[in-house]
Amino acid sequence: MITNGGSGTYFIGAHIGAGSYGDVYECTDEWSNALVAKVLKPAGTFEDVQRQWEAEVANLVNMRHPNITYMHDAFVHDNCFYIIVEKCLYSLDRVLPKIDETWVPHIARDVLQALAFIHRFGYVHKDVHPGNVFVSLTSDVISRSEDAGPYLSFKLGDLGITRMENDIRTTGTVLAPWMRPPEAIDPGRFGAIGRQTDIYHAGLLLLSVMHGEVLLFEETDIVAGAPLRMADSLDSPYGQAIASALHPKVMYRTQTSLEFWREIQAALQYLAPGGNATPAPMDLGPPLTNPSGPGKPTKTRSSS
Ligand SMILES: Nc1ncnc2c1ncn2[C@@H]1O[C@H](COP(=O)(O)OP(=O)(O)O)[C@@H](O)[C@H]1O
Ligand SMILES: [Mg+2]
Repeated sequence: MITNGGSGTYFIGAHIGAGSYGDVYECTDEWSNALVAKVLKPAGTFEDVQRQWEAEVANLVNMRHPNITYMHDAFVHDNCFYIIVEKCLYSLDRVLPKIDETWVPHIARDVLQALAFIHRFGYVHKDVHPGNVFVSLTSDVISRSEDAGPYLSFKLGDLGITRMENDIRTTGTVLAPWMRPPEAIDPGRFGAIGRQTDIYHAGLLLLSVMHGEVLLFEETDIVAGAPLRMADSLDSPYGQAIASALHPKVMYRTQTSLEFWREIQAALQYLAPGGNATPAPMDLGPPLTNPSGPGKPTKTRSSS
């Protein structure tokens, strides 16, 4: 049990995930709300970790949106930096092998809305990948009828390296090394890192959904446009929209989140003339904590 001064008491549970910056634990508050506690890893000096924590907390405070994970609290306890966030079922990387193309428009609509909101603020997320997109479940605890859900939606999280677009340097800006976009490798040839970097990463995210695994590319393949060609050769109506987001040159890439969504939406209408293609319910296996209990079907929300 840990307390944040007089303002909050939290019960820390099992370790459920880790990234480059944090260890994440299941957590509940005194109301038994399902939360997670992200504890920043002690990388660097105390002041380095403090700066990292302050930046992530400031981003989460500024960027409240239904498709961005909600921060409940943040505090320092025993020289460790905590961020308390709503608990989601899974990050998308955990379920990629079990999902398919029918999820693409639902993930795209939610993640691109989160990105549009972040970009409107003048920020760039810089870290869009399946480990930072969360599957969230909303249950109707009153009616409990089949039609009442539970419903899945998608939330973008981990705003740890999200920064103002104007502050981003051409070289040396922090990006995940395993998914460096062309503009991070050779800005002179491909353009500057900015909001279109998030568009590129959203393209890679959807390509990974189509392939059922996180895709890793060598730098030589990235600058040669291998992700674009892979999307282009997909036997899917979404292939073109994803390929346009993956153009190696920033200026020829899909420019905005809304434009990207419109292209996905056009493909969706082509798929189902009514524009109402509903994915089949997926068996995602047992969630970390499933408020609906095992055996109750889950549905993804219609994106119309
Ligand atoms: N709100 C959450 N709900 C469920 N799992 C989470 C949540 N936040 C983080 N996780 C798990 O912990 C992992 C690391 O969290 P993240 O915030 O991405 O940390 P890092 O900054 O170290 O990458 C995620 O990929 C996910 O598996
Ligand atoms: Mg992460």
